[in-house]
Amino acid sequence: MVDFHTHILPGIDDGSANTTVSIEMLKQLKKQGVDRVVATPHFYMSSGSIEKFLECRNRVAIEVIEAARKEAEPLPKIALGAEVLMYPGIGGMEELSKLCIEGTRYMLLEMPFVEWSNITYTTVDKICAMGITPIIAHFERYINVQEDRGFLYELIDMGCLIQTNAEYVNSVKTSRKALKHISEGHVHIIGSDCHNLTDRKPNIGKAYEKIEKKLGRGEIRNLRNIVDMVLEDAEFLV
Ligand SMILES: [Fe+2]
Repeated sequence: MVDFHTHILPGIDDGSANTTVSIEMLKQLKKQGVDRVVATPHFYMSSGSIEKFLECRNRVAIEVIEAARKEAEPLPKIALGAEVLMYPGIGGMEELSKLCIEGTRYMLLEMPFVEWSNITYTTVDKICAMGITPIIAHFERYINVQEDRGFLYELIDMGCLIQTNAEYVNSVKTSRKALKHISEGHVHIIGSDCHNLTDRKPNIGKAYEKIEKKLGRGEIRNLRNIVDMVLEDAEFLV
């Protein structure tokens, strides 16, 4: 099982506070059946350059890997990526592909939390034209999609993949909606979006159990096939 959306790297965003917490998060993921994790720290264009972000991300990732190697049992392998907040200027930016999951042309894209405009779509279009496939992070959190499913279909038509947070599947309030989207093929990827060990902890195992129980093994296979396609050439740190 893969957790596609995590903030397990320490000291780079509002995720894991330190290496000890990161290791504990990885242990919890392993207990849930996760063998591969994509680390997706927040990247905001307004906070600095891509180069600086990558330098910091790669440095803290090495710290985590070195700590993981000291553990008696192997922990999930880590691929490096980013959760890139949409910003009109990023469409067509040459360096953008460096924020894709390492070894792939897939990039986790966080959409604006305010009403989307034409510029939003033009930017997604420009990203797709660069040969990058945006994976829309936690689609359920955007006003537009909550009000009108058409916005979601439009992104899928543009070539995007859609990610949902495990919590959307787990919560009794939203579970039915989440399962409906998954069964109708509008959601392709599940991620825990874990930030810590308390209020936003790793919780992806429960989501997969629920999907299997309610939608059957066939649906789990469909999700696994997509994961395998996206991560076919991904580079994992061990
Ligand atoms: Fe996130």
